[in-house]
Amino acid sequence: MRCEPTHPDRRKGRPFRTMHHFAYRNGILAAEDVPLTEIAAEVGTPFYCYSTATLTRHVDVLRAAFARHGSEPLICYAVKANSNQAILSLLAKRGLGMDIVSAGEMHRALAAGVAPDKIIFAGVGKTRAEMEEALSAGVTAFNVESEAELELLGDVARSHGRTAEISIRVNPDVDAKTHAKISTGKSENKFGVPYDAALPLYRKAHTTDGLAVAGVHMHIGSQIYDLQPFADAYARMRALVEALRDEGIALKHLDIGGGLGVPDRVGNAPPPSPADYADVVHRELGSLGLPIVLEPGRMLVANAGILVTEVIRTKEAPDKTFTIVDAAMNDLIRPTLYDAHHDIWPVNEARRDATPIQQDVVGPICESGDYLAQNRALPPAEPGDLLALMTSGAYGAVMSSTYNSRGLVAEVLVDGRNFDVIRPRQTTSELIALDRVPDWLK
Ligand code: LLP
Repeated sequence: MRCEPTHPDRRKGRPFRTMHHFAYRNGILAAEDVPLTEIAAEVGTPFYCYSTATLTRHVDVLRAAFARHGSEPLICYAVKANSNQAILSLLAKRGLGMDIVSAGEMHRALAAGVAPDKIIFAGVGKTRAEMEEALSAGVTAFNVESEAELELLGDVARSHGRTAEISIRVNPDVDAKTHAKISTGKSENKFGVPYDAALPLYRKAHTTDGLAVAGVHMHIGSQIYDLQPFADAYARMRALVEALRDEGIALKHLDIGGGLGVPDRVGNAPPPSPADYADVVHRELGSLGLPIVLEPGRMLVANAGILVTEVIRTKEAPDKTFTIVDAAMNDLIRPTLYDAHHDIWPVNEARRDATPIQQDVVGPICESGDYLAQNRALPPAEPGDLLALMTSGAYGAVMSSTYNSRGLVAEVLVDGRNFDVIRPRQTTSELIALDRVPDWLK
């Protein structure tokens, strides 16, 4: 196992469970067996870099956590976390299904070779056109979020001579204790139907032509560090499943969503492990004897990816130092949007020995919100240094934009000693070619 031999937290003897394959070798940070300097020389910076070994390990760990309880859940990877076609293909080859929220994600999953019957269509805003597209493609499993959506889906299914298999997303009204923008299971959130409204809606679905009740769905948020909200939500789902059974409404599965947090900084207490998570699922839901569906996103990909950036220059302000790098909020918006923390490791290991200074790591974009780290004690950087923003594999590249006419950055997948560009850097001419200038302006 090639895991962080010089991880600083090991030196402190604290628990830090991230197991990934980004580690220093001969003084240079490497992805598996490839020094990041080698990738930077070939593709330039910034670039996202993913590790195949880490991705497959995360899948294996999650499966093993449930296997201890004799359970083999269907893992439907949340495509939104990282939808690069290569990542989807890798996960599809490991037998994963997929959780999608748009026709676009559906086509990505199908193109990656996922069987339609392993795709679940979620989201509050599915349109008629998307429902039609999904049913024609053979995707029949829908997680429904409102009565209006249920009625529309029944109508679309009947007019296509199909049966849509539905789960109702139930909002359990629990506080997932995560960032407000990624909390989804409170009654004030737009997601799901209120717990008390679920049973009447199931009765309606049960008797609607074109619909077949298949399951119950919940998802309470993302980057969750506390298992209690999961346990509270599961208890409500268990009661609902029992009530449905009492009414003779049979279920094929219980979809408990995603949301388990990942360790994202050295020195902090780690989140519960996949094994702890599986234990709670088993404890709360095992007695139902109902197949479980999982929708993990971050857990599988976050620590399998990093964003590598080059220092352009530093700049002294009266109170602090700015380290200006060539990646920006358009490439990784999580710090700006969610105050998210990404550890920053210098690619050159020797830099770690320097006395840290308080600094902001910022991009070239014309906004004060354009930062990757704020008031962080980090070793002083010099122009040309490479820095790695850790834990960037989930909700990184997928949330990027071309603001300030900055093309989407390259993405690279490492496998052992090899690496492949899985998305070339977008050129300025490609960006300009997307626009159309009307004839009258020419
Ligand atoms: N299932 C549903 C219905 C979801 O809405 C999500 C994420 C997932 C599964 C996967 O959750 P995960 O296992 O990745 O926590 N952009 C934010 C995260 C947004 C999550 C949206 N829904 C971030 O960068 O933190």
